[in-house]
Amino acid sequence: MANKSWVVLSLVLCVAVAVAVAVVSASDPGLQLIFVLGDSTADVGTNNFLPTSMVRADFPHNGIDFPSSKPTGRFSNGLNSADFLAQMLGLKRSPPPFLSLNAKSLRKKRFSGVNFASGGSGLLDITGKTSLTLMKFGTPVKTPVVAPSGNRQNVVSLTEQIQQFATVKRNLTAIKGGRRVTEKSLFFISTGSNDLFGYYHSNSSIPKEEFLSSLELAYENHLKSLIDLGARKFGIISVAPIGCCPSQRIHNTTGGCLEGLNELALAFHARLDALMLKLSSECKDIKYALGNAFEMTVNVIQNPFPFNFTQVEAACCGAGKLNAESFCIPSAKLCSNRNNYLFWDLFHPTQAASKLAAVTLFSGGTQFVTPINFAQLAKA
Ligand SMILES: *[C@@H]1O[C@H](CO)[C@@H](O)[C@H](O)[C@H]1NC(C)=O
Ligand SMILES: *[C@@H]1O[C@H](CO)[C@@H](O)[C@H](O)[C@H]1NC(C)=O
Ligand SMILES: *[C@@H]1O[C@H](CO)[C@@H](O)[C@H](O)[C@H]1NC(C)=O
Ligand SMILES: *[C@@H]1O[C@H](CO)[C@@H](O)[C@H](O)[C@H]1NC(C)=O
Repeated sequence: MANKSWVVLSLVLCVAVAVAVAVVSASDPGLQLIFVLGDSTADVGTNNFLPTSMVRADFPHNGIDFPSSKPTGRFSNGLNSADFLAQMLGLKRSPPPFLSLNAKSLRKKRFSGVNFASGGSGLLDITGKTSLTLMKFGTPVKTPVVAPSGNRQNVVSLTEQIQQFATVKRNLTAIKGGRRVTEKSLFFISTGSNDLFGYYHSNSSIPKEEFLSSLELAYENHLKSLIDLGARKFGIISVAPIGCCPSQRIHNTTGGCLEGLNELALAFHARLDALMLKLSSECKDIKYALGNAFEMTVNVIQNPFPFNFTQVEAACCGAGKLNAESFCIPSAKLCSNRNNYLFWDLFHPTQAASKLAAVTLFSGGTQFVTPINFAQLAKA
């Protein structure tokens, strides 16, 4: 029933938009801003603003290849995929984190969008809220702040990220005096990994298909919220073969990938593919590009040399087995040939790998991104 009523609502909504478009001056193409939502794969410093968060990267060696070797909160030696996608659209790097904005930010001439992504978050509100998941993977990050046991905020959930976007939309609409601010804008979303990690490592008794259905439903609800707020163009990145992260390989006696996690990631992509088809048939003016992070990454792991990668199993920064028994903390061991590593730390890609991912999303063929790529999405 809930589904049906949404279909009716969204049809009405699409029609309303079509009428609005006709009314707005034909010469107003609408602003093309960039909004980024998701987890640590796209976080450019959100969690730096959560003093008690355990999920952070605002200390060395993170950022060693960033200008002035500055740790920024990115889980990378330099830039991440959100930065490279923004670059391909003409920006210097990703738009800034929502939590870094002040009352004047949206009025700036070069305002280009907002990044809401928060490391550790997922599709489900509970994902990242407990430190349980973190503990599973190795030594938790030692932060200078001792986390009080009470209501500390570890991450910004996707639900909260969308509420933040609603604030931005409201303020922008007021500032831009009725110019269309969302219809042409790009919404990049990279999430899902942390939900799958949490499920897999909790030995949950919930059957796999049932859990995947709950994630699909959660994704659908998040996208509907964004559509209700005027979003129309979605660049979505599914889950990479996360069983091949160094942090997961160390749980396999052979050093191979954790197949159970990879199966979840693959099934998640199929769910997402079906969901996007459904949503775009219900609301015809939605445009989307779905990046198959699974296929893209497997392609590199199986054939790394053409991409200049010589190490696709161990982390560049860390300690112990596969350099994956510790997070990338200041005392961690650091590789020197960072452009030859697929993994920066026990979970996250290097700057080189992120760049490759963004290039593939932007200009790749249908093996990697469907039904169109991110460049076509931007122009659509
Ligand atoms: C949005 O507007 C409110 C009210 O004017 C203001 O307090 C807030 O700082 C603004 N937020 C952003 C991100 O611009
Ligand atoms: C899940 O099962 C594995 C293997 O049986 C065990 O090592 C691990 O401690 C269990 N985890 C939880 C959270 O119960
Ligand atoms: C461990 O890796 C091997 C390949 O080296 C694979 O066949 C096996 O299924 C993996 N084990 C688990 C638990 O995923
Ligand atoms: C690989 O590295 C070599 C030398 O380090 C460089 O000339 C070449 O452009 C690189 N190729 C790619 C695909 O990055």
